[in-house]
Amino acid sequence: MPSTLTVAEPYLIQQDWSAYTPEQHAVWQELVSRRMPQLREHACQEYLDGFVQIGLREDSIPNLAEVNRRLGPLTGWNATPVSGFLPPDAFFEMLAARQFPTTTWLRNRESMEYTPEPDIFHDVLGHVPMHAHPVFADFLQQYGRTCARIMHDKDALERMGRLFWFTVEFGVIRQQGRIKLYGSGLISSHGESTYVIQGGPEIRDWNLNQVLNQTVNVSEMQPVLYAVESFEQIFEAAQEAEALLCR
Ligand SMILES: [Fe+2]
Repeated sequence: MPSTLTVAEPYLIQQDWSAYTPEQHAVWQELVSRRMPQLREHACQEYLDGFVQIGLREDSIPNLAEVNRRLGPLTGWNATPVSGFLPPDAFFEMLAARQFPTTTWLRNRESMEYTPEPDIFHDVLGHVPMHAHPVFADFLQQYGRTCARIMHDKDALERMGRLFWFTVEFGVIRQQGRIKLYGSGLISSHGESTYVIQGGPEIRDWNLNQVLNQTVNVSEMQPVLYAVESFEQIFEAAQEAEALLCR
């Protein structure tokens, strides 16, 4: 159990991997096998590489201890089991410590496409493969550190929330002239991804000032997304945001 966390400590749990039922593993398999054809074609290469590097499998729910045995040596990140939604200060404390708050429950067959709260499918299939990429890994830690510094400033924190939304959750990247997905909200959702692939949203070139001021409606398909040209661009954006907002 990590010892460096204080605010987040009450939310840390153990994943009881042996308690998952065959039905739950079957739901995982169905969820992953539904997503993979589209992801192989439309996810960015860094995501697909990360998926293999951290040893995700289609046929069983990830054992986080095994994921971390592979992920830790790559970037120092951990998928750390938590009980559910974290308050912001606990969430940022974990990101700053390279620990990704990871839920362990899995949706059931009645909500295959959408759950209001993140589950292990969204958190691990959606988020964790990108944490194997060194630049994305540094970006996410930098993001957590900055947010931890501006906890007192509601307006600055709201702007940082938009940076998270348009990168970590709904990020797209231009690779070889094509739009590729890396945001977890896209990776883990067939509907959201299909909407992007079919040209639904306006895809704008990355612009940090626009991102920080772009209001978000979480309950609709995204009308605007911002495409980066490289992951260095979001790392630099996190540093710029810190310089702008930490006053
Ligand atoms: Fe997420």
